[in-house]
Amino acid sequence: MNIGSAKIIELPKILDERGNLSFLEENNHVPFQIKRSYWIYDVPGGAIRGGHSYYENQEFIIAISGSFEVVVDNGSIKQTFSLNRSYYGLYVPNNIWREMINFSTNSLAFVVASTNYDEFDYQRDYQSFLKTKK
Ligand code: TYD
Repeated sequence: MNIGSAKIIELPKILDERGNLSFLEENNHVPFQIKRSYWIYDVPGGAIRGGHSYYENQEFIIAISGSFEVVVDNGSIKQTFSLNRSYYGLYVPNNIWREMINFSTNSLAFVVASTNYDEFDYQRDYQSFLKTKK
């Protein structure tokens, strides 16, 4: 099941006895042009990140280290994606509500985004988000 077009995308994995390597390219593994990257770390147990949607911004989220879950919600259906490998990413389109939960100790969430940071691109009110879906 895909909510909107939220989906797991497998990244290349170059196996090597010296250590493995993965990578991503814009408009290839990531289905948009990359304008920004950010990462979330030192998340205390039980904390929730996200809790908003974007009007325009699309994202690709990777658990570079450790694990966490991303709950995506299109206003009628919720789906939980578990991220726990550095060679899987979750594509999250715009206009999808999302929360990041259950961060493991020392987890590192790496996010590439299709827009520069813009607070006005955030929809942070869930009831207003739901109204846009009617
Ligand atoms: P926010 O996106 O609300 O965090 P999350 O969705 O993970 O809960 O961002 C938290 C703060 O960081 C907020 O004040 C905006 C700032 N921020 C930037 O300045 N640039 C960025 O690229 C991001 C993602 C956040």
